[in-house]
Amino acid sequence: MIEHVVLKISRFNVIALGSAILGVVAVSLLPSTGKTASQALDHPTYADLQPFFARKCLPCHTTGGTAPFPLERYEHFAKRGKLVTDMVVSRRMPPVAGSSDLGSFGDLCEVTDDESLMVQRWVLDKMPKGNPTPPPLVKPVAPGAVVAKAKLKEDGLPYVLQIRVPAPAGLDFERNWEVSTSAPQAVRQIVFFYDVEHQPPISKETLGEYPVPTDRLLAVWAPGTPTTWVAKPEGRPKDLTLLVLVQPSGLGENMEVRIRSSSQNSVRNPKWIKLGTDDWSLPPNTSETLVNEFTQATATRAYAVLPEAGHYLDRMQLTAGDGPDRKALFQARRWDYNWPFAYNFAEPVGLEPGLKLRFEAQYSNTEKCSANQNKAIKDVLSGYGEYRDRFWIYVLTGS
Ligand code: HEC
Repeated sequence: MIEHVVLKISRFNVIALGSAILGVVAVSLLPSTGKTASQALDHPTYADLQPFFARKCLPCHTTGGTAPFPLERYEHFAKRGKLVTDMVVSRRMPPVAGSSDLGSFGDLCEVTDDESLMVQRWVLDKMPKGNPTPPPLVKPVAPGAVVAKAKLKEDGLPYVLQIRVPAPAGLDFERNWEVSTSAPQAVRQIVFFYDVEHQPPISKETLGEYPVPTDRLLAVWAPGTPTTWVAKPEGRPKDLTLLVLVQPSGLGENMEVRIRSSSQNSVRNPKWIKLGTDDWSLPPNTSETLVNEFTQATATRAYAVLPEAGHYLDRMQLTAGDGPDRKALFQARRWDYNWPFAYNFAEPVGLEPGLKLRFEAQYSNTEKCSANQNKAIKDVLSGYGEYRDRFWIYVLTGS
């Protein structure tokens, strides 16, 4: 068990270091009068960076949060300055690949160039402290109805838990949810379905192996997401199915999922639109972009996004508009199979009738692709299983 943890961390460091070196080279080439350089502070202190760390790291790096250690005060950073820069510069932390030009995913979004530059300068200056404000109070686990409980596996490997429970009597589907979990370090994403009959048991390590029944998709949650929009079901659901993507610590922790109603109404006339296509095959040693276009027929609003893909995807984007005016409703510039995050918009994004949506999935079926390691490179087809992949994005729309 311990051996596994060491292995995992060293793999992580190698990748991060590789890109950190690239990052530092790129930054030193920036002209000192450049826009990016002039906006960032030349000699930031920890106090200057504290708001950035609070927004981008604290959703997970709190005592008892999903990350393995807290980053709540100066001392926590001082201990691991170099590692922090490596993570930020390589954009491996926060571990989210998604961003949007048209809306905001709250604090869960990519680090900007300025932020990355400031963190590098702070570490180069040997991490001056400044006058930080007292560390934030540790949030207690939020109250709420316990909807699921599980004892997590002790091998420390990420996997998906499939939990089916009767819909708790007090659970409100007319309102959005505040979701919380009690398992320190463990829960990365939860997808909620209702009244799903026959779903295959999950054997592989992530959600990507699960054919998503869109008509029964209720809500998606990830740590740090501002709102969990609930796609208001017709009638009262009898049961709930939770797909919980977990990264256990290896200690066999007990996990609980709690839900509390928020004051906002759930999404009216909800519809999960599925974009993408099965009409492709990926020949060996190719990396190309698959494109599909759609036109949004009626006015609607986008509330949440759930990208789905396996190991062969490098990046994906869903743009809205025409020609040079196209803006990303969602983009994942560095797809990471182990973090297939659910994204909730902080505020819904309006989509006009006649709006052109363009979905692009850039794949790579080469030896660099993690799925091809120690294996023959063959044709990859659409679907679930070996030599298979799916490039989809689900968008929750409603009025
Ligand atoms: C969405 C949750 C989340 C956010 C936000 C987040 N982290 Fe992490 N972090 C993790 C998890 C989980 C790990 C454990 C490694 C893994 O499982 O990928 C981790 C690991 C790390 C590590 C150790 C990596 C290693 O190789 O040992 C560092 C350093 C780190 N995070 C720094 C940061 C910093 C700095 C921020 C903010 C800029 C941040 N993290 C934001 C979840 C998060």
